Amino acid sequence: MGLVEFARSPWGQDVPIHIAWFLIYVCAVGGLGFLIVHAIYVRYFAKEEEFAGSTSPQVAATVPARVARHSFAARAFHWIMAAAMLTLLFTAFLPKVGVQFPWVTYHWIAGLVLSASIIFHIIHASFFMDFWAIWPNKQDMEDASNRLKRGLGQDAPAPRRFAKYPFENKMYHGVIVLTGLGAMLTGIFMMFRVRTGIFPRNPYLFGDMTWGLTYVLHGLCGVGLIALVIVHIYFAMRPEKFVLTKSMVFGDLPKEYYLSHHDPERWVVTERSLAKGAGD
Ligand code: HEM
Repeated sequence: MGLVEFARSPWGQDVPIHIAWFLIYVCAVGGLGFLIVHAIYVRYFAKEEEFAGSTSPQVAATVPARVARHSFAARAFHWIMAAAMLTLLFTAFLPKVGVQFPWVTYHWIAGLVLSASIIFHIIHASFFMDFWAIWPNKQDMEDASNRLKRGLGQDAPAPRRFAKYPFENKMYHGVIVLTGLGAMLTGIFMMFRVRTGIFPRNPYLFGDMTWGLTYVLHGLCGVGLIALVIVHIYFAMRPEKFVLTKSMVFGDLPKEYYLSHHDPERWVVTERSLAKGAGD
């Protein structure tokens, strides 16, 4: 049972045409399996969260009652992207599991919405937000390693409180960047294979082998996104993380949550910095 399906070209060559569709189930079950194992671990085995250091009352007094976390533009991007992503997943995979409907047009239109929102996000994050806030650094890795050791019952110092984003969120973002860009770039080329009315159809843009590999890469990114989206929605719904989900709707966090989970030296949010737009 191969991971890729092949077909014979008119020239007698075996060329890949797309991924084997059983990978849909592998990724869906993988995502669901992860959340079941995680939920059991948190419920029965995980210890109480513990961080090193605390904030002085003087610094705490400079923190506003509600701490801005996501600007309106960042929230709009997130929800437009989420709607496009879910539409892409359902239009792509429902027909493969037996729910037949003319999906291709809905699919590429949602693909264009996703692509536009990703391009907007790249420009917004590069020039208007703190670009480096979402990429892992040495401190994150040290803290993550300490948390893992403590989780496994080994001796390790308590980790520092987080900057704006914890290490796990940064890693998740990195993986979604790779899979999202992979699906987007291959998808834009695949639009040359269908009649869109936007540009002339040109199935001869690439040879059979290149087209095949493009479809395989699109499919691999696509099934990967099934697992990633399941895991993302699971964390968004967990009771202890729900405060963060609400911040993606309303834009801010309560001061108490900020002080207990974030280090004001690593994520600076005084009234003055908020006025300068640090709430992106
Ligand atoms: C969540 C992201 C996405 C997923 C899960 C996804 C999944 C899929 C899958 C499974 C197929 C069937 C491929 C095959 O038969 O081998 C497909 C086809 C297609 N996708 Fe996507 N895709 C995504 C994003 C995009 C984007 C961003 C675009 C465009 C910008 C796009 C454009 C297309 C087109 C045009 C086809 C049809 C190709 C054809 O029938 O020849 N997709 N997609």
